[in-house]
Amino acid sequence: MTDVVGSHPQYDEFADEFLDHAADGFHNAHYDRPACLSLLGEMAGRSVLDVACGPGLYAAELVARGARVIGLDHSPRMIELCRERAPAGEFHVHDLGDRLDWLPDGAVDRVLFALALEYVDDRVAALRELRRVLRPDGALVLSRSHPTGDWLRQGGSYFDVRVIEEVWSRGWRVRYWLAPLERTCEELHEAGFLLERLLEPRPAPEAARLDPDRYASLSREPTGFLAIRAIPDPRR
Ligand SMILES: C[S@@+](CC[C@H](N)C(=O)[O-])C[C@H]1O[C@@H](n2cnc3c(N)ncnc32)[C@H](O)[C@@H]1O
Repeated sequence: MTDVVGSHPQYDEFADEFLDHAADGFHNAHYDRPACLSLLGEMAGRSVLDVACGPGLYAAELVARGARVIGLDHSPRMIELCRERAPAGEFHVHDLGDRLDWLPDGAVDRVLFALALEYVDDRVAALRELRRVLRPDGALVLSRSHPTGDWLRQGGSYFDVRVIEEVWSRGWRVRYWLAPLERTCEELHEAGFLLERLLEPRPAPEAARLDPDRYASLSREPTGFLAIRAIPDPRR
């Protein structure tokens, strides 16, 4: 297995299924989104870059909260779904391997980067671009799979940084990076961010009714996601 995910938009062929899965699904609607939205804080009147925006579930919520949303994703179908779901937003087909040359320095108040860091090969370069387009008093909110859960599922060395390929329960074939928590923190540091908060979210209370077993396990085990709020380091 070569250690590269590449720029092929692997979510494109199952973008509609992802929307169906994530709109009210346990992990996205009742676990990741509440955590990231809480870290984003008050959004009325703020501009936000929704990075790897998927089908626009965050974007629609952010528009409803009064934000001006600019979204990007390298999947053309995801961007079509965003435009349908959040017509007030501005959406671009863009691969995170490329520079954001359509956005000036300091263009946005917040950057949201939910559940997609794992798909990016040069994460430091991508994070540097996100820092560049963020206002100096802005904040980045990022979520990723919990590295402890990855290690429990995948085995091997917790500290290895490597690409794996999986077929998920709906038949989706996905390649993504495994990396320990230290690596994510170091990548943020190298890109010029300071870590402000790190959450190990628990599922939202209403999720207990959706799936009691999953609710119980994610309430006691670090096997889901984590969420980070980072700010541009004023010294760099
Ligand atoms: C798990 S989905 C998350 C979607 C959305 N952030 C959410 O949480 O609802 C991952 C998204 O990352 C996008 N993505 C993956 N690699 C990317 C890249 N290199 N550039 C831009 N988008 C990418 C995929 O197309 C997909 O929409």
